Amino acid sequence: MTHSVSGGVSTPARGKLAVLMPGMGAVATTFMAGVEAIRLGMAAPVGSVSQQAVMEMADGTVGIGAVLGLAKLEELEFGGWDIYEGTTFDAARAARVLSPEHLEAVRPALEAVTPMKAVFDRRFVRNLEGPNVKGDGEKRRLVEALRADIRRFMDTRGCDRAVAIWCGSTETYVAPSPVHADLGALEKGLDEDDEYISPSMMYAYACLKEGVPYANGAPNLTLDCGALVELAEREGVAVAGKDLKTGQTLLKTIVAPGLASRHLGVNGWYSTNILGNRDGAVLDDPQSFKTKEESKLSVLGSILDAEQHPDLYDDLTHQVRIDYYPPRGDNKEGWDNIDIFGWMGYPMQIKVNFLCRDSILAAPLVLDLALFLDAAQRAGKSGVQDWLSFFFKCPQACDGEVPVHDLFEQRRRLYDGVMQLASALD
Ligand SMILES: NC(=O)c1ccc[n+]([C@@H]2O[C@H](COP(=O)([O-])OP(=O)(O)OC[C@H]3O[C@@H](n4cnc5c(N)ncnc54)[C@H](O)[C@@H]3O)[C@@H](O)[C@H]2O)c1
Repeated sequence: MTHSVSGGVSTPARGKLAVLMPGMGAVATTFMAGVEAIRLGMAAPVGSVSQQAVMEMADGTVGIGAVLGLAKLEELEFGGWDIYEGTTFDAARAARVLSPEHLEAVRPALEAVTPMKAVFDRRFVRNLEGPNVKGDGEKRRLVEALRADIRRFMDTRGCDRAVAIWCGSTETYVAPSPVHADLGALEKGLDEDDEYISPSMMYAYACLKEGVPYANGAPNLTLDCGALVELAEREGVAVAGKDLKTGQTLLKTIVAPGLASRHLGVNGWYSTNILGNRDGAVLDDPQSFKTKEESKLSVLGSILDAEQHPDLYDDLTHQVRIDYYPPRGDNKEGWDNIDIFGWMGYPMQIKVNFLCRDSILAAPLVLDLALFLDAAQRAGKSGVQDWLSFFFKCPQACDGEVPVHDLFEQRRRLYDGVMQLASALD
């Protein structure tokens, strides 16, 4: 599909771009391995808007990468943090997403990256434990240690710019509380070791203080609070979140707008999944699942609008389950049963059975977010980048705005955002 844009191509980004990932498990290593396989000419960037989309310009069709002058894959430098020791090759092998042939081909690139010591607190991820951690300590000191990690990484790898994408585990549910409300409260909370400041918030705080744009790939509250949005705006840093929109939710936000546009009624949407990777093990803890559940449940309300059409959507029951089932590994299977009704109220059912690969769907989104956030930063954007909602299950909206879930509306906003950036970068 092509999109029309007036104006020309933007000045290309120059220099190395660090892509920093708190959490270097299945998603992060599948992303890294894929980029390396593409660099080696062994794979195509399937599923990546930044690598595949084209736009109609005055002079003909141009790739979106040229429109925004996006960083080239050769210019990306990977780094990050994890609680497990070993290289990212070890992590990729343990994740069991990619075939041994693919893994061997990208082995040198993955063996060159070892996660830095993590800021970790088991109260927020109860089903994991690992040795590669900075240890207990005051939150302020840990944040300063993360900032030092970022500066050291940029220096030793000769990077000009950086972006960060949280690819870490889903944390236990954290309700917004006074310590998250504004920057003053959060700063005080860091000094006083407030128990409601999670590790993901500490990474985000450290990145923003270092001027590093940050995207949240998990449903954790993290940046979706007044304090960190205030910091992003004050420091002039672009942010986006939250929770990558990959398998079941991607399909949900494709199917639901179709049903709504035909004015068909929906009174039930039951979704269940089996998943056997480490993410599944973490989500087996009810408190981590609650964070994911809130994110997954949020999508239908704005598409199947009960306020506008109470006769069609008022009675909608929406339920989501995830069961940890080790034999499937990363190959998640999702089932949806959708109870709909048509003319004169006659009921019908739709069944969707999606046998997907979680990290294969997530990896291109990490790439796109890294490149688009970098472009936003170069264009001088700061605060929440809601034009990137397209990539998220639970999109973070700008102050006072309602998040948009309909994939087609999100796509329209994505291309509007690209056009705006293109003129700012011209
Ligand atoms: N794969 C998908 O389709 C998908 C979609 C949406 C969201 N997500 C989210 O992306 C995240 C990553 O998924 P995954 O499949 O790679 O999980 P994973 O368990 O393979 O990797 C997560 C990694 O984060 C590490 N980690 C946890 N807390 C950390 C901390 N404080 N600091 C540093 N590292 C930490 C863990 O040790 C682990 O290696 C999860 O939160 C998941 O819910 C994944």
